[in-house]
Amino acid sequence: MSAQEKMHVDRYERNWMVASAILLVLFATAVSIAAFGMGIQVPAPEQRVDPRTVASDPNSPWSNPGIREVVAGEKYDVYILAKTWQYLPAEISIPAGASVTFYVTSMDVQHGFKIQDTNVNFQVVPGQVSKLTVKFTKAGTYNFICTEYCGAAHAAMAGKIVVSP
Ligand code: CUA
Repeated sequence: MSAQEKMHVDRYERNWMVASAILLVLFATAVSIAAFGMGIQVPAPEQRVDPRTVASDPNSPWSNPGIREVVAGEKYDVYILAKTWQYLPAEISIPAGASVTFYVTSMDVQHGFKIQDTNVNFQVVPGQVSKLTVKFTKAGTYNFICTEYCGAAHAAMAGKIVVSP
């Protein structure tokens, strides 16, 4: 046997190896385009907070949760505190066309935050801040609910966003 003798790979097996490699390159390209070209990203922890003091520390925005106007009629920040079994505040009013960035954290156990008819759907983990921006182009009422089982009244944990024309 010479050192140059190649390992035998069956033709069909080689074809599958080539096809798999092409798929990997395609997927990596698609993910790169989505992440860097289109800016599509998964919600990441925006910051760390201490769940024991996040609701009481006067320097914490969640000690006074609610809406903050950034640009009137266009841009708002909303700080929401999740706790068993409610959201503070449970109702938010914004004008249609506004771009709203949600900053949500929990002061006790893990909760969820899903707003109907939007792509907002994330976990709310004590000690972390979940952040996502959504533009409300259509007027109406958008309910939000807890999507992580958090105890006896989990099913009642909800709120709403009222978008006025
Ligand atoms: Cu909070 Cu389920």
